[in-house]
Amino acid sequence: MLENKDIMKEIDINGIEPADETKRQYYYMAKAAKYIKEQEEQAGRKLTYYVQNFGCQMNARDAEKLAGVLEKIGYVEAQDENADFVIYNTCTVRENANLKVYGRLGHLRGIKRKNPFMRIGLCGCMMQESQVVEKIKKSYRHVDLIFGTHNVFKLAELMVTMLEQNQMVIDIWQDTDKIVEDLPTERKYKFKSGINIMFGCNNFCTYCIVPYVRGRERSRKPEDIIREIKTLVADGVVEIMLLGQNVNSYGKNLDEPVSFAKLLEMMEEIEGLERIRFMTSHPKDLSDELIEVMAKSKKICRHLHLPLQSGSSRLLKEMNRRYDKEQYLKLAGKIKSAMPDISLTTDIIIGFPGETEEDFLDTLDVVKKVEFDNAFTFIYSKRTGTPAATYENQVPEDVAKDRFNRLLKEVQEIARKKASVYENTIQQVLVEEVNEQDSALVTGRMSNNLLVHFPGDESMIGTMQEVKLKECKGFYYIGEQA
Ligand code: SAH
Ligand code: SF4
Ligand code: F3S
Repeated sequence: MLENKDIMKEIDINGIEPADETKRQYYYMAKAAKYIKEQEEQAGRKLTYYVQNFGCQMNARDAEKLAGVLEKIGYVEAQDENADFVIYNTCTVRENANLKVYGRLGHLRGIKRKNPFMRIGLCGCMMQESQVVEKIKKSYRHVDLIFGTHNVFKLAELMVTMLEQNQMVIDIWQDTDKIVEDLPTERKYKFKSGINIMFGCNNFCTYCIVPYVRGRERSRKPEDIIREIKTLVADGVVEIMLLGQNVNSYGKNLDEPVSFAKLLEMMEEIEGLERIRFMTSHPKDLSDELIEVMAKSKKICRHLHLPLQSGSSRLLKEMNRRYDKEQYLKLAGKIKSAMPDISLTTDIIIGFPGETEEDFLDTLDVVKKVEFDNAFTFIYSKRTGTPAATYENQVPEDVAKDRFNRLLKEVQEIARKKASVYENTIQQVLVEEVNEQDSALVTGRMSNNLLVHFPGDESMIGTMQEVKLKECKGFYYIGEQA
């Protein structure tokens, strides 16, 4: 763990708050811990927390930071929303992500009525939208704390305010250039971890809300990232996932610029680290240097997630993606010839305003030509505040659904075909968990991200195993130890 265990001991909560931001937050953790202890005595039991995460891997990592702080304060984890502090870490990339949160918030009202100690917190991308916060202030008065994406590090401080005053606490920042290092985290998996290498996004794809809710691009310093990885490896981590909205533009705005490829080379040297993954790559910034570094690396996984969004050059321009169909095809070709065994996956949006049948056929064409190993397909969702929300020619729902189904069928056929080529080969598999359906099996992942189930037990979790792939079941394999 990254946290400095001694910091908590050094803190005098009756003294003045420290100036250094990390220390300030530990000061507030100590202060909140005192309040929680008092509540525990009143309740005659430990207080519990539950963090429900929505959205992407970046949010998942933030949820681990929230959990880290809550554990330090003295809460213990609960398995569901029957807890004393429930936090929803929200996502707003598509409308249905928002609807889920409102539904569950309504449900919490009843639970809270029965538990005088219960507090409810909301954070994450949705909270950066002012109309959302207004709606919660008006219709969801049982919420106690609202904060955003830029001040996740402030949880302890905000909790102290919440516990000291009995009204809704709201703290939303519009943007930040601050990166607070060395706060506690509580990892979901012992052997693997996400790592933020950068925050925010500067690309402003016209359909996308992320730049508005995550702010401008900021890269962490390489030495801070490497230090974090080394600490994680010492704590049992063998696989890392580097996180950023566009990792290919990592380091461009640092005082001493460092390319993403160079950062990866630094990581290659870390002893004990076995696998490196990253996401997401924006095609417009993917360099030859990166392909070279990947091709010769022993640790970087044979998997690249390269969102296409659309195969139509006309729509790509409307989307402000800054590449066209030909450039994407050329890039995919270059990557595959440098690494024939690479698994290429992608994101595709169907029904962007003005999408014609011809545009859609261009998307299908790229899907067939590139032969993606997998594709996440989304129906376009109008996001208030983005340029595309004001575009005319929004595509009717039934047309979008029809195209979506045709696309999905193609994607799945190709994915099945691509997955099946490993039958009877022996592969390195990192074991992740005991199989949920059959406890005689364990589930692990190949370098190319395919899942494999094979006979094994709990002791294998986090270890690399040689596995003979016996049978391909569509998108996963059944195997046995080689
Ligand atoms: N930074 C990443 C994507 C982050 S959002 C990138 O540039 O590739 C994850 C995916 O959600 C996107 O790739 C896109 O396919 C999808 N998405 C984003 N906004 C959307 C919207 N308004 N409607 C539907 N899908 C959307
Ligand atoms: Fe959204 Fe585009 Fe930024 Fe990705 S690169 S987060 S799709 S604006
Ligand atoms: Fe959603 Fe925010 Fe991620 S909008 S996809 S949680 S960056």
